[in-house]
Amino acid sequence: MLSKLENVLNDAELDLAKVNDLNALVQLKANYLGKKGVLASVMSNMRDLTVEQRKEIGMRTNVIKNSLEEKFEAKKNQIEEAIINQKLQNETIDVTLPGVDFSIGGIHPLNQTIMELEDLYIGMGYTVAEGPEIETDENCFEKLNLPKGHPARDMQDTFYINPELLLRSQTSPVQVRTMMENDGKPIKIICPGKVYRRDADDATHSHQFMQCEGLVLGKNITMADLKGALLEMAQKMFDKDRQIRLRPSFFPFTEPSVEVDVSCGMCGGKGCSTCKGTGWIEVLGAGMVNDNVLRMSGYDPAEIQGYAFGIGVERITMLKHRIDDIRNFYTNDVRFLNQFKEVK
Ligand code: PHE
Repeated sequence: MLSKLENVLNDAELDLAKVNDLNALVQLKANYLGKKGVLASVMSNMRDLTVEQRKEIGMRTNVIKNSLEEKFEAKKNQIEEAIINQKLQNETIDVTLPGVDFSIGGIHPLNQTIMELEDLYIGMGYTVAEGPEIETDENCFEKLNLPKGHPARDMQDTFYINPELLLRSQTSPVQVRTMMENDGKPIKIICPGKVYRRDADDATHSHQFMQCEGLVLGKNITMADLKGALLEMAQKMFDKDRQIRLRPSFFPFTEPSVEVDVSCGMCGGKGCSTCKGTGWIEVLGAGMVNDNVLRMSGYDPAEIQGYAFGIGVERITMLKHRIDDIRNFYTNDVRFLNQFKEVK
């Protein structure tokens, strides 16, 4: 019987060495130490022994039982530790690995120009106004002194949605909206935004482009104020040596109207291929707001006058960065756009 007991110990040790998961270990422990386990079945023969033998076997059994319990406990700890180590290994992050570089977008060059214009004009006390791109014929034309059938409507070939609604062909309707909301009170705004015209796209035309409108209404506002606001713009957007020139022109909503040129930055005004030998480059239209326009939106021209201007955002951006094709702005070629990123 003693040898049977020793065998139990040996077998258990051999089996234990093979186990490496907790469920199997629990099962194995029940096999050896459980109520119906191997040890219990050996012990069940005790009754056939003498008192002396019982004492000896009993002591030995206890030793073996304790030893097995310790061994099972040690194995359990060993398996648990292995599980934790494995988990830690799986979750390990090597903080010395180089970081993953992800690409950051940039601000579109046209938006950069608009942001610069906003900065500049906000600095001069203007606020920024916005309006919808789908406009009424009334706001886009009629209230700007362009009744239906007026020949000057041909200046802007317009996308009509129906006879009353259109894609705005200029940002000037935002002037009308602002005037209608202001009850004859002074105004000082710029309105940047997209406009649409039925032009065939080429290097200098796009069916969709951007304008930045300006409108200043108040007492005793004159053409000199307009010239000052535009000179400031030319010198901030390009460089401080730029000059501007006002040429007589026609817009139905301004009287008098002017077209404004900036001195050519390529040749300093001497004349080159960029300015076609003139020394000047046209950048915007402007003028003193026509009395009819004021009246139609609730302003009394005897009390309040002012000026309006419409800057071509693409035009300025192209001149500034020497871009020769307007389509670059709208084809989203990242090789083009990346050149305007602040963080490369
Ligand atoms: N809206 C005009 C255009 O698109 C530009 C302009 C604006 C002219 C304001 C005068 C005053 O052609």
